[in-house]
Amino acid sequence: MKGVILAGGLGTRLYPLTYTTNKHLLPIFDKPMIFYPISTLVQAGIKEILVIVSGPHAGHFIGVLKNGKELGVEHLEFAYQEKPDGGIADALLLAEDFADNSEICVILGDNTTDAKIKDSIDSFRDGSLLFFKKIEDPESLRRFGVAVFDKDNKLIKIEEKPKNPQSQLVATGLYVYDNKVFEYIRKCSPSWRKEIEITDVNNHYIAKGKANWINLSGFWSDTGTFETLFLANSYWAKKHENR
Ligand code: DAU
Repeated sequence: MKGVILAGGLGTRLYPLTYTTNKHLLPIFDKPMIFYPISTLVQAGIKEILVIVSGPHAGHFIGVLKNGKELGVEHLEFAYQEKPDGGIADALLLAEDFADNSEICVILGDNTTDAKIKDSIDSFRDGSLLFFKKIEDPESLRRFGVAVFDKDNKLIKIEEKPKNPQSQLVATGLYVYDNKVFEYIRKCSPSWRKEIEITDVNNHYIAKGKANWINLSGFWSDTGTFETLFLANSYWAKKHENR
């Protein structure tokens, strides 16, 4: 399986930290943020990786990642998203040639986790696989895509940034897709925030009965706000201290 890391966007929620570089190059304890999703993929045996970048600091990535060899990546490619905040699914469309009809594991560049996903990746056959995480705080839930289930506990949809979350299960920024993903992206229209949403793509898979989901074990956090950036830094610093 190949891997795609989405590291575009403008990181405006982290101004002024992102005035001079891209969000995904900010430090999480002793490494740039993007090292974490790369490590998640490499540990799962995924060593062919496409990094999608955008915005005024896109050129900084090559200076940090070089050819990826130091991080265990065997083949590293970059793609440039022209509309820097066109949405996660808009960025993912750039991976179509790279995917070359094979399955892809997609991870958001601002997600850090110590979950091991190799077994899930190895047993993936078709459709999509979504990784959920339980979040109890209602305020935090409203920042994410939140799963909705029917009375038989069947997943019926994901709601992006719901005012009234219907469950405590958040769709993390980790997804496995078959080659239908690009067809579904093309069916999506811009949302209220003028982005092509990955949640709409996931809802296409759910509607077709082609979405499996599992709970992501271990630590998971996005790092797109000052609070979560701090939380992730604290977690990884402590983990390092307890080695
Ligand atoms: O972190 C998990 C959440 O990520 C999910 O629960 C949501 O369903 C999903 O929509 C997403 O929500 P955010 O609003 O937090 O996404 P954000 O706009 O912060 O983008 C996340 C990453 O995606 C960002 O680090 C870089 C990449 N991205 C984003 C945009 C908007 C791109 O590559 N291009 C883009 O145009």
